[in-house]
Amino acid sequence: MSRPLSEVDPAIYDLILKEAERQHGQIELIASENFTSEAILEATGSIYTNKYAEGYPGRRYYGGCEFTDQVETIARDRAKKLFGAEYANVQPHSGSQANQAAYAAVLNPGDTIMGLDLAHGGHLTHGHKLNFSGKTYHVIGYQVSREDERVDFDLMQRLADENKPKLIIAGGSAYPRQWDFKRLREVADSVGALLLVDMAHFSGLVAAGLHPNPCEYADIVTSTTHKTLRGPRAGLILAKEKFGAAIDRNLFPGVQGGPLVHVIAAKAVCFLEAAQPSFIEYQRQVIRNAQTLAAGLAEAGFRIVSGGTDTHVLLVDVFSKGLRGKEAEQALDRARITVNKNAIPFDVNPPLNPSGIRLGSPAVTTRGFRDPEMRGVAACIADVLNNVQSDAVAEAVRGRVEALVERFPLYEWRRARMAEPVTV
Ligand SMILES: Cc1ncc(COP(=O)(O)O)c(C=O)c1O
Repeated sequence: MSRPLSEVDPAIYDLILKEAERQHGQIELIASENFTSEAILEATGSIYTNKYAEGYPGRRYYGGCEFTDQVETIARDRAKKLFGAEYANVQPHSGSQANQAAYAAVLNPGDTIMGLDLAHGGHLTHGHKLNFSGKTYHVIGYQVSREDERVDFDLMQRLADENKPKLIIAGGSAYPRQWDFKRLREVADSVGALLLVDMAHFSGLVAAGLHPNPCEYADIVTSTTHKTLRGPRAGLILAKEKFGAAIDRNLFPGVQGGPLVHVIAAKAVCFLEAAQPSFIEYQRQVIRNAQTLAAGLAEAGFRIVSGGTDTHVLLVDVFSKGLRGKEAEQALDRARITVNKNAIPFDVNPPLNPSGIRLGSPAVTTRGFRDPEMRGVAACIADVLNNVQSDAVAEAVRGRVEALVERFPLYEWRRARMAEPVTV
């Protein structure tokens, strides 16, 4: 019972240490990733993983929930306070399940919804045909405009007038600009639609007051907790109180069974951390770092979709330099810079080998990168992408990356265990 992981399962233990070393040893620019605090890791790894607690505080289907109830109540209260929301459900295991339950609370199968096209920066759960959302609902996709690559509200209004959606969804996974929630509310109200904002990507900026707060405008707001918010891997639903009972019911028993109480405990810690003044400073730097990176790459001749970013994420049109997203991702990987290929609006290339890469600043900002480091990262990326075939350039850049990350150690004591012998 009390034997350590290293003894019980050396293979998995070894892979955890290797992953700690990998996370330390590369420049993490995946916009949806971050590095949580030790406190959040501790809560996630806590004994609450043992507890079954179907139901909600005070209304459980299992005994022994007296402390679980307190954990969930603290998490809910902190979430509501942090975002100024009337209602919170902290049980979603993920962002996708948060959306699934939120939609089910206000829609029937076959109802019409509108979401930003995946190819224009939206998310799978906003109506992609292979996702539950596209299979369950009738989906009308809106897009960004060709001129400025920002949400085309005239198109959205026209599509809303023509199709009378029951729900309009805002938010996305590769949209670098701030959302105009007032305008969204006007479009929704003009056709009697409900408004749901999925702030999965930018919820950390909202918590810090650096992005307009969708809770002021939307009927329902969903989020993940592991991106800019820097919490554990999970989801969150906020809403006006009148939708609360339907959301509770549609999450459990509608979509999920027992909640992951250890992850709810970690979400509570995340909301506490996000309410600290230091979190505002962190998010300020997140935006600054994304903008510095965008400016550096633009100076090096890369086209930045929409001309820049207001947030933590930017899209680089590598096809503007004759490259494809996949080869850019692979070339950067060789230099230990981690990014993901991504479609750009009106992409002339297919989704599996699109024209862009998506970059984000939350993770590198957590480890301490500021303006000078971001200028260095932009130079490294430009060097690799201007010489994708060159092993020598990849090797030289890998050296620069190594020197940079050594100055910003990550999860040091975990990595120190690498030195200990492990027998498999
Ligand atoms: C906007 C948005 N919504 C929902 C999700 C889904 O979150 P999860 O991966 O936790 O299911 C993501 C994740 O990438 C996202 O970007």
